[in-house]
This record gives sequence, C-alpha cells and structure tokens, in this order.
Amino acid sequence: MENKKSQWSSHISFIIATVGSAVGLGNIWRFPYIMGKNGGAVFLVTYLLIIAFICIVPLCCELGLGKLYKKDTVSTFKQINPKFEPAGWLCIITVILIPCFYFVVGGWILNYIWIFLTNNLPSNFAQYFSAFSSQTIMPCLLTILFLLLTAYFPYKGVNGGIEKANNIMMPLFFVMLVVLSIFALTLSGAKEGLNFMFHPDFTLFNKNMILTALGQALFTLSIGMGTILTYGSYMKEDTNILKSGYTLIICDTIIALLAGIMIFPIVFSFNVEPSAGATLAFITMPQMFAKLPFSTITGFIFFVLLFFASITSGISMMEAAICTFITNFKFSRKKSALMTSLLIALISIPASLSFGILSDFHIFNKTIFDFLDYLTSNLLLPFNTLFLCIMCGWCIGDFCKKIFKNGFSAMTFNILLKFIIPIVLIFVLISSL
Ligand code: PHE
Repeated sequence: MENKKSQWSSHISFIIATVGSAVGLGNIWRFPYIMGKNGGAVFLVTYLLIIAFICIVPLCCELGLGKLYKKDTVSTFKQINPKFEPAGWLCIITVILIPCFYFVVGGWILNYIWIFLTNNLPSNFAQYFSAFSSQTIMPCLLTILFLLLTAYFPYKGVNGGIEKANNIMMPLFFVMLVVLSIFALTLSGAKEGLNFMFHPDFTLFNKNMILTALGQALFTLSIGMGTILTYGSYMKEDTNILKSGYTLIICDTIIALLAGIMIFPIVFSFNVEPSAGATLAFITMPQMFAKLPFSTITGFIFFVLLFFASITSGISMMEAAICTFITNFKFSRKKSALMTSLLIALISIPASLSFGILSDFHIFNKTIFDFLDYLTSNLLLPFNTLFLCIMCGWCIGDFCKKIFKNGFSAMTFNILLKFIIPIVLIFVLISSL
C-alpha cells in the first residue's frame, strides 16, 4: 500500500508537520483568552503541569502506535483487536466532523484576507461580521474554497504535498507571529496586556480550571482522533517518541503564549474587553488594526497567519481520514481525497448556514456549528482519548516498553496510562455531560 511506504524525508519535517497540526485556531483565539480569564499565570502553571504529565501520555501513545504499526487509525485498532474497529471509525468520524466547523472559520479568514488586501475595510466590524457570516452564498463558497485548498496537499501525497506545505507555511507563520508580537509590544497597552496574561491571581484556582486546561490541551495537541497516529506512521524507525512528544508540546505552548503577547497589548491599548473565538478574531482584532498605523499590512499579516495556522491543522485532519479510506476501501489517494472532501462539504454547508437561514435550527439547544464544536471537543475527543489509553495500557502487551528505550520512562508511563489518566478522563467526561 502507498501509505506503508510513505515516510517523512527528515526528522525536522516530521516535527514541523506535527507542530503544524497542533498549532491552529486553538492556540491563537482560545488559549490566550482562557489563560487570561482563568487567572493568567495560575492557569499557565496548571496547564503546563497537565500537558507535561497527563497529555504527554496519550500523545506518546498515538506517536507510538504510528511508529509500531505504521498504518492508518482503523487498521491499527483492528490489528490490536478486531473488536476495536468501531472505536477506530469513531476517531475518523471525529476527524471528519471537526473540519465541518473549523473550515467555516477558514472561509471567513479567506474573506478577511481579501478585504485587508484590497483595503476595503468596513467602518464597523461587528455589523460587518454579523451581516457577512449570516449570508447564504458567499460564506458557503469560501468554506468550500478553503476545503479545496486544504485537500490539495494531502491529495498530492505525504512528501509532495503535506510536507512541502508545512515546511513553507509553518516558518512563515512563525516569522509573522514574532513580527506582530514585537509590533504589539510597542503599543501603549503592552504592560497591561502582559499583566492580564502573566499576573497570577491564586484565589482564582478551582477544579474547573483543571477541566478547562485538559480540554484545551487535548484539542490543541490534536489528540484523540488519529491525526498524530497517522503522522506518526510516517516517522523514521529511529525517532525518539518521548523527545518528539515534548518537542511538540513545547513548540505548541510557546506559540500559544506568543499569540497572547500579540493579542492582549493590542486589545488593552484600546480599552476593550478581551474575548475569545470569532468575536476576538473577526471583530475586536480587525477593528483595532484599522485604528493602528500600517493597518492594512498588520491586518493582512494577522489573517494570513490565521490562514497558515488553520490550513496546516486542516491538512492533518484530512490526511487521517484520507489515509484510512485508502487502506480500508482500497481507494486511490485521489478518490479518497475526493470522498473526504465531499463528506466535509456536505456537513460544513449547514454549519455555515447556521449563522444565517438555519440559525433557528437547533440540536440539543445548540446551532449546528456550536453542536459540532461541543460534540467533538467536549465528548468525542475525551472519549476517544480514554479508549486510546485503555487500549494501549491494557490490551497491548508491554506497550510502554516497546515505545520507550528508557526503563524508567516505560515504568512511569505504564502507571500513568493504566490508572491515572483513565480516571482523570472519566472525570472529565462525566463533568462534560
Ligand atoms: N490542534 C488544532 C488547533 O489547535 C486543532 C486540530 C484538531 C487539529 C484536530 C487537528 C486535529 O486548532
């Protein structure tokens, strides 16, 4: 099979691609805000502890499964035990449902790149964004355009498409992020912005913070849906799993912090309330950019940066599904890419319309877009991760010994994997419900 032979051409390409998958909207519009709202430095410490001691375990499981089995998600699960096949498919369902709302945002990003490029800026971004996102045709077309741009790279293959895209876009993304962060630090709100992020308020510590940090960590590291497993299956034989896992975590966290350093000084320079999600990226930030010197350039860079972050994540989501269809349905890469794109298009169109003509259509009291976000981030990701840990810990003999060279790491991970992590995840799932 084509996928068995595919391999990253170098270790650095593998790291860049996994960082490309991990770094996305979650880092830029969610992490800084959650951190600021949850007591800044206290949250940061909690988050770092969770990511370093808890999330590293499922992350290494996915990397390890990729390295050991060298297969797509479903085939890997099936090989461990044929009864696990449905759990493998659940990962693929998750990885198809996430782009269905993620790519709607990708379409909005394309629109904003265009308006900053052509300097066609509205005077009121709040009105503009609500009018634009509730339209029927344009946001759907842009969602499909974003989908096609993303699908092009996995369609071109691992080395010819995915690796090239990440190797070009991720360094550019990083340079743009650093440039905008330096620019933000020259503004009057820099001190206040940094204070919001880093000034610890220990009275804010509570158990909810742990849950928030864990949910954020799973989403941002792309754990629990087979993307890291798929990228891991292309790694070279001599790759060190633990080192790669920690490199990924460190890069992801540094980028999330830089995103905060870019965002908060700007927000505080204009005395506006910091917020998360669409409001921050599509209303607050562009409104601020429009008032700053070099507005069209800074705004343009900001949205291109968001575009790179989201497309490299999107590529990894699509590749996990495409690679599964190639092996399990014996499809060609082209047919697989087409089928994945069609499935995503079918669901993302109603998700886009849920800001307009379908806004009154609710599933469990949520619009289609919000429901997809909730279902995947709060339920499917923790559930899939729980299954992954139980499967690796209890159903594969000596899994930790197989993936770690060092006996101490193997022993520690074994205890975490078998007992601690499942308990924590069950706790998270119950509280999400
Ligand atoms: N980690 C990405 C982010 O932070 C999202 C993502 C989820 C990417 C699932 C791939 C798979 O935005």
